Amino acid sequence: MSNTLQHIEVIPTGGALGAEIKGVDVSQSFSPAVSAAVHQALLDHCVLYFRDQHISDEDQVRFTRYFGEPVPHVRKQQDRRVKEIFIISNVKENGEAIGALGNADISFHSDLSYMPEPGTLSTLYAIEIPRTGGETLWCNCYAAYEALDETMKTRLAGLRAVHRHYVEDQNPPGHVAHPVVRIHSETGRQSLYVGPHLTKYIVGLQEEESDELLKTLCTHVMQPRFIWTHEWRVDDLVIWDNRPTMHRRAPFPETERRIMKRTQVFGHEIPV
Ligand code: OGA
Ligand code: MN
Repeated sequence: MSNTLQHIEVIPTGGALGAEIKGVDVSQSFSPAVSAAVHQALLDHCVLYFRDQHISDEDQVRFTRYFGEPVPHVRKQQDRRVKEIFIISNVKENGEAIGALGNADISFHSDLSYMPEPGTLSTLYAIEIPRTGGETLWCNCYAAYEALDETMKTRLAGLRAVHRHYVEDQNPPGHVAHPVVRIHSETGRQSLYVGPHLTKYIVGLQEEESDELLKTLCTHVMQPRFIWTHEWRVDDLVIWDNRPTMHRRAPFPETERRIMKRTQVFGHEIPV
């Protein structure tokens, strides 16, 4: 069945962010009206999930392309037929990991924030999921910013923080700094853009003051009231906006299998 505007349902999670989209088959193409409706839902809810999708790599790339240009990841994976698809998995074949990120906890981050032009959108499609753990948690950084008091908002205005990948050789040359509070290029809303995983220090502050401020902001943004958890089912497709959100992957037993396929959009925008 082809996708029609009348059949789309947007069902907010009732949590800090996120909505389920029903009535859309991602294996079929979208009309401009359908992609505009999904895009608006993404701007409104920051994370969207679509259940029971039976899609190929090409379908996932086409879906991504309605919202931005999917790119081969900065970290290359060999032997991928569709270069824009990156495997996230702990599974090993012949002693070698078939994907990235293993089974450990990955603390809150915004994809590719260590790049001068960070990721805007990402998608994940669940192929195999563990029986326990491995949930993905998203945090609403618009809400976290809005909840700060006026004194803190004034203190943060104009500050920039240096972002760095924890694996040193993943970093581009030089120091990449982004605003601590960024303005979304499409919604115009402000959000907090610092996290425990990738933000190293605040430019121009003494080390002690920078550490303390980052700790305060990270503790603030990671409060349960700003977080929504996605419990994966096989055949779930999720798309999220990295600009006003961070995400975390909960750990899972290494004896369990988890296989996800990911696309990422760089968006070619410098955070302001
Ligand atoms: C990622 C990521 C989380 C997950 O792929 O960038 O953070 O749940 N993944 O696999
Ligand atoms: Mn990520």
